[in-house]
Amino acid sequence: MALIELILWIALSLGSATARHNSRQPTGHAPTRIVGGSNVPQGEYVPYQVSLQYQTGEGQAHFCGGSIIAPDRILTAAHCCDGMNVTRMSIVAGIRNLDEKGGSRSRVVSFVIHPAYKALKTSDIAVLTIDPPLVYNNVSVAPIEFSSDEFVGSGVPVTLTGWGLRFPAPFPFLDNLNFPNTLQRMSYRTITNRECQQRGMEYVTDTEICARGIFRGACSGDSGGPLVRNDNGLKQVGVVSYGLVVCGLFVSPDVYTRVSTFRNWIQQGIEATN
Ligand SMILES: *[C@@H]1O[C@H](CO)[C@@H](O)[C@H](O)[C@H]1NC(C)=O
Ligand SMILES: *[C@@H]1O[C@H](CO)[C@@H](O)[C@H](O)[C@H]1NC(C)=O
Repeated sequence: MALIELILWIALSLGSATARHNSRQPTGHAPTRIVGGSNVPQGEYVPYQVSLQYQTGEGQAHFCGGSIIAPDRILTAAHCCDGMNVTRMSIVAGIRNLDEKGGSRSRVVSFVIHPAYKALKTSDIAVLTIDPPLVYNNVSVAPIEFSSDEFVGSGVPVTLTGWGLRFPAPFPFLDNLNFPNTLQRMSYRTITNRECQQRGMEYVTDTEICARGIFRGACSGDSGGPLVRNDNGLKQVGVVSYGLVVCGLFVSPDVYTRVSTFRNWIQQGIEATN
């Protein structure tokens, strides 16, 4: 239950930070999406992106992002799984809008959280096993490459996609925040971990990677979702971990779990039978 409490705490912080932020918005400016980003255009898909959903009294609610790494495996953040009831979790692949019916839903059979995971500190990564396995069509459903061992430095252009942060528990005041239903995409650049620490993320270690842009609007990102770079094809370099919830504090960088650090562990997660 401790992690549920943490998530609720983050949700509450998000609510209050956003409320303060929103109150500073000029009227007519709708702070509803990743700032500096835009809707993924109609007819276009981010085929490796999935929505992680939780069964609530009112139906299935999006609460985290994830990425396809094998037909029956999804990469996400540990904090999206810790304390969750696996029988209520599912993923939806092949959608651009959360309301569209065309995607495919698979239930989450089990998840493996990295053994070194410590909330808001390190190893915020998890692998889900899903059923039924996904069928790749290479247009709306396809895997993302994750196995590069390169330690990505600063100044590398990277792209984040997500539907924004949502939480499995009902928060009446959060409903008013009008999170986007259309997948958002934003590009910015990585920074060094030293710069990340200097900019306030003092606990960042080499197992994480930071990126920063000039944020002016609403919350961005989607916990557990993929940060990718284009390096002879798209490669996942990060998993959204923390920092993104600090809406309005636009000087603060976003912290991602560094995928290259965990590539062997992820590969073991794919090969494990469970
Ligand atoms: C998990 O959710 C299922 C389905 O709603 C429910 O039957 C079960 O009691 C829950 N388990 C726990 C530990 O809460
Ligand atoms: C998708 O791409 C993979 C790898 O290139 C290929 O093996 C598969 O046949 C493709 N599937 C479809 C439906 O095009």
